[in-house]
Amino acid sequence: MSRSRSLYQCQSCGASFAKWQGQCGDCGEWNTIVETPQAAAKAGGLGARGWTGVDELALARLDAVERERGWRSPVGIGELDRVLGGGLVQGSVVLIGGDPGIGKSTLLLQAIAALAGRLRGIYVSGEESLAQLAARAERLGIELGTIECLAQTRLEAIIGVLERERPALAVIDSIQTIWSEALTAAPGSVSQVRECAAELVRFAKTRGVAVILVGHVTKEGGIAGPRVLEHMVDAVLYFEGESGSRLRVLRALKNRFGPVNELGVFAMGDKGLREVPNPSALFLAGRAERAPGSVVMVSREGTRPLLIEVQALVDESPLPSPRRLALGLDGTRLAMLLAVLHRHGGLAVFSQDVFVNLVGGLRVAETAADLAVVLAVASSFRDRAVAKDLAVFGEVGLSGEIRPVAHGEERIREARQHGFSSLLLPKANLPRKAPAGIRLVGVERLREALDAAFS
Ligand code: TYD
Ligand code: MG
Repeated sequence: MSRSRSLYQCQSCGASFAKWQGQCGDCGEWNTIVETPQAAAKAGGLGARGWTGVDELALARLDAVERERGWRSPVGIGELDRVLGGGLVQGSVVLIGGDPGIGKSTLLLQAIAALAGRLRGIYVSGEESLAQLAARAERLGIELGTIECLAQTRLEAIIGVLERERPALAVIDSIQTIWSEALTAAPGSVSQVRECAAELVRFAKTRGVAVILVGHVTKEGGIAGPRVLEHMVDAVLYFEGESGSRLRVLRALKNRFGPVNELGVFAMGDKGLREVPNPSALFLAGRAERAPGSVVMVSREGTRPLLIEVQALVDESPLPSPRRLALGLDGTRLAMLLAVLHRHGGLAVFSQDVFVNLVGGLRVAETAADLAVVLAVASSFRDRAVAKDLAVFGEVGLSGEIRPVAHGEERIREARQHGFSSLLLPKANLPRKAPAGIRLVGVERLREALDAAFS
């Protein structure tokens, strides 16, 4: 048998194999493996083309290393700076992902405009023409003379321009449109995206230029194709939001320079993205008067507390195995909570369809949401509303115990600030001194919580 000239490469994670197979052995995706010419699949040696100028043979002892910190500068858009962990860092690479049309290009154009006068940013667009960019900037009310743009998709040309200009920040919109002439693979393929990103990362590190990469997102929710990108960059920010809603949430999934899971909240308007410095008020806007199935929880995402409405709909199911749907919450956790509600709360929901939704399109992973979910389900099931000025937080354990969660006092303060007059919380989260202006009801068991909420 002659030796194969081709490699087979997964278009999702970039793993390569000697033979074609239906499922990628690395990331488990199906039908993502395609034949790739070996030269393209290997594609090493990009960094060896001379511009890096790093002494590759030198060893360093840490005490001899010059601890030059480089600059760190706020962009000037508060909610973006919050998610970045305080601002842009020199030589850092940030990946911003999100669905098409969610506002990535808008935000970055606004970011360059906000930096203008302090730090120089260059906007490299591989998707839109200069005319389109100008029209967008005009619509955003940005002073057009402050934005420098480059409409280019060829990596070598982009690096050449950046090398010549040495701006503080380069925005690459988007990484999927960039291609290198050193590779034969098509633009957008894993090898192109990965190698172009790697080259831009090397450029950022050696030249101290901050680089923001825009990444498109696949239906599955990963940053398209190469999840490898997430490991190469310093921070991964992800834009979330419901289509049809103006609310946009930017979340840090990874950040070498700040806390993860930090949220920035924006509203999309006719003048671009506007900051929402007080998101709780926005998330609660439009809440109905005492509706069964609705409970407000005090969540804490990133470094600030957030009031979010949980809605549940429980209805007799015509199906032999009733539906369970959780939007914005973990579905497995919902199944667990329903079991606890049955066993320790005496609510027979097993023959019911259960839908749970977090209003506003936010995703919450913390267990402090448990108690609100359980109460929302109970409220819909019994068709009885909880008091409108009641807020809730707490974790529910498998034996029906209500467990404490972190940052209790901060959550109490947030609920009080937004006019909630009572708060149902884990007993262990009760502060030593009761705060003024809000009634705290500490509970230890699920039954107690149900009694207190529906008394
Ligand atoms: P865009 O930034 O192009 O999204 P992405 O780069 O993530 O694909 O966002 C474009 C969407 O935002 C589009 O649907 C129009 C809307 N939009 C506004 O509502 N107001 C505005 O001022 C701008 C510029 C866009
Ligand atoms: Mg765009």
